[in-house]
Amino acid sequence: MHHVLVTGGAGFIGSNFVRYFLQAHPDYHVVVYDKLTYAGRLENLQDVAEAFAGRYAFVRGDICDIPLVEQTIAHYSVDTIVNFAAETHVDRSLMAPGSFIQTDVYGTFVLLEAARKAGLERYHQISTDEVYGQVLDGRSVETDHLEPRSPYAASKAAGDLMVLAYRESWGMPVTITRGSNNIGPYQYPEKVVPLFATNAIDDQPLPVYGDGHQMRDYQHVLDHCTGIDTVLHKGELGEIYNVGTGSELTNIEMTQIVLRTLGKPESLIKHVEDRPGHDRRYALDVSKLHALGWDNVYNCAQAVEETTRWYADNAWWWRPIKSGELYKDYYAQQYARRLEQA
Ligand code: NAD
Ligand code: TYD
Repeated sequence: MHHVLVTGGAGFIGSNFVRYFLQAHPDYHVVVYDKLTYAGRLENLQDVAEAFAGRYAFVRGDICDIPLVEQTIAHYSVDTIVNFAAETHVDRSLMAPGSFIQTDVYGTFVLLEAARKAGLERYHQISTDEVYGQVLDGRSVETDHLEPRSPYAASKAAGDLMVLAYRESWGMPVTITRGSNNIGPYQYPEKVVPLFATNAIDDQPLPVYGDGHQMRDYQHVLDHCTGIDTVLHKGELGEIYNVGTGSELTNIEMTQIVLRTLGKPESLIKHVEDRPGHDRRYALDVSKLHALGWDNVYNCAQAVEETTRWYADNAWWWRPIKSGELYKDYYAQQYARRLEQA
């Protein structure tokens, strides 16, 4: 039986991964290790805790806490780490970058060092297409130079480089996946698709940054999860694999799909002041992962539709978040002036 430590497993992608992974591998034990920041929520894992009680454990902790990380690895006989833990929202990294450096860079180092000392079988880093920077033409391949442009992307790029340094220096058994924009259940409604779906459900404006012609590869989170699983089982040590659909939508096209799915009017769209340093386009070449036998199930449009329906059907999950003071403060800081000026 494998014992896998999933750091950041109470967040959006981590919780979807844990649910998928425990179902797919009846011989695996998963320990979620998560600080439970604003983005980490035990509700995301409630059904998992019930369905897989014998093979699942939860530890509340910070990946920057060296003694607790080491103690958890020893206590649960962990042999593999899959690291999802990160500060993840570009707009928040523009407001307050410090926590991104702390978690995404220093936290990655702490996990690597603990994995090296304990002689773990595998360390897998969850990374992002944003480390390549904007790609105006063509598609990013795994050997491309990193040209991150936001504090979030720069901190993720630094994490990736540290992982590769541990491979070079000590021959650590590492792999990295770089995913495109994920969407699906349990995504905190600060990211664009859950934000727009939940605003539209309440007939609130959808704040599109700038002209809305930026392009993203919106992939369904379950496709990302099967991609990570494929790399964990078939990937080569020391290698990086892109995970995405390999196609894109503009933000306006994505917004129109959200509105059409909900039967809401396009008059809800409000073009607001752009994000500073807004990356125009991300685009991944995913042929290296395809060569391992993986394929995506959803295209971008299907992923947006399916996701929008989930938010329409699961207000129990997002309404308490959106009505909380923490969320309202963030929303006011990020959008009040922009919407007034629109
Ligand atoms: P999220 O913000 O929903 O979840 C992050 C999780 O990490 C939360 O549960 C949070 O509590 C936890 N966390 C944060 N700081 C921590 C710390 N110091 N110690 C322990 N736990 C901590 O993020 P997500 O969208 O699920 O992203 C997960 C990973 O995937 C991140 O590494 C992110 O960079 C990467 N990624 C995300 C996307 C995307 O579109 N969302 C795309 C590609 C890659
Ligand atoms: P986001 O979900 O923040 O992901 P990322 O910036 O990491 O790609 O944003 C996706 C796209 O949507 C990006 O081009 C920015 C745009 N966007 C808006 O137009 N309005 C918004 O309110 C948000 C949050 C994002």
